[in-house]
Amino acid sequence: MGQLLIALLVGAVAAGAALVVLRTRSEPKTKNKVPPALRPADIDAVLESTRLTKIHGWGLARPLVCAFVMPAYWVQEPQNRLDTEKMFEEESLERGERYYAMATDQETGESNPAGKECARCHGVEAEGGTNDFLNPDTGVRSVVQVPELKTVFARYEEPPPGFEDAEEFIRETIERGRPGTDMPTWGNKYGGPLTEQELDDIVAWLKSINEEPEVGADATGDQIFNQFCSTCHGIGGAGGSGPAMKGGSETRQFPNIEDHKTFVKEGSKPGQPYGTSGQGTGAMPGWAGTLTDEQIQLVVDYERSL
Ligand code: HEC
Ligand code: HEC
Repeated sequence: MGQLLIALLVGAVAAGAALVVLRTRSEPKTKNKVPPALRPADIDAVLESTRLTKIHGWGLARPLVCAFVMPAYWVQEPQNRLDTEKMFEEESLERGERYYAMATDQETGESNPAGKECARCHGVEAEGGTNDFLNPDTGVRSVVQVPELKTVFARYEEPPPGFEDAEEFIRETIERGRPGTDMPTWGNKYGGPLTEQELDDIVAWLKSINEEPEVGADATGDQIFNQFCSTCHGIGGAGGSGPAMKGGSETRQFPNIEDHKTFVKEGSKPGQPYGTSGQGTGAMPGWAGTLTDEQIQLVVDYERSL
């Protein structure tokens, strides 16, 4: 509809222009050169013929055309805006996907010059993976767990303190990176390569592929941990809003593994101590409804091995 109107308008302008050109051409060169608007008006005798009716007719026809065309355009306008908005969104998602991907597709060899290669660490399907990491501060080389990003929105549904929502936190994480880990700084603001728009596009794309974390039947302890626990306890138990779990801290907190399992099943209660020296705030959820006994066993074994 919008395009049709524009086409009609362009057609009308073109036809008008053609008419003017033809008319000026067909006028004999020698005839008076006075422009039409400056020529003497028609005399009464002429005007009282059909001439006046014609002039009135045109006078009526033009506003009528406006009266119908403008409302038709106006009626269409909200839809046009929605369509344009949708188009912008789709383009943003496409760009986000391209930035996320490898610069050269590993399977097809197709080149993707826009690729920023998040996929290299986070997996082609945003399913997570591992990366060989040389810590610049300590000089220690290790294989680190890279979190899956297709569930990142769901995992941070309850955002860390100080953040409005998952989106704000995820955008900030990408923009800044995670100092001391393998996650590079990406935002221009902190000296990284991505503009605000590019960050928005990637975040929008990640949001569009967001799915609820789901533990596969064959998920290992570290996978379960990274899906459900790392949002608070940090990737690999590095710590965050929840305590870090390093250097055997959990075997000290829960010398008896059964207490450890019970705590994970039930979560913490405000003001209630747990383990050897834990003080509950109620911020640790209970997992009995989400994880099976076997999965809790696996994740507890994993935590005790850190
Ligand atoms: C060199 C490997 C590497 C690259 C490349 C990389 N990341 Fe990361 N990213 C990581 C690691 C490792 C972590 C986990 C850091 C930690 O221990 O908290 C991470 C964490 C994240 C997180 C937070 C996830 C969570 O569960 O807390 C987001 C979001 C993220 N990366 C997005 C991106 C995006 C978007 C790109 C591409 C623009 C990217 N990453 C490129 C290694 C990488
Ligand atoms: C929403 C944030 C959050 C998530 C998700 C979370 N925890 Fe916690 N966890 C906490 C907090 C906070 C504490 C500290 C106790 C408190 O404040 O009540 C804690 C404490 C613990 C402790 C005791 C640690 C110590 O040394 O004192 C264990 C064990 C634990 N969590 C296991 C898990 C496991 C296993 C998962 C995943 C299945 C998990 N947590 C997911 C927030 C979380």
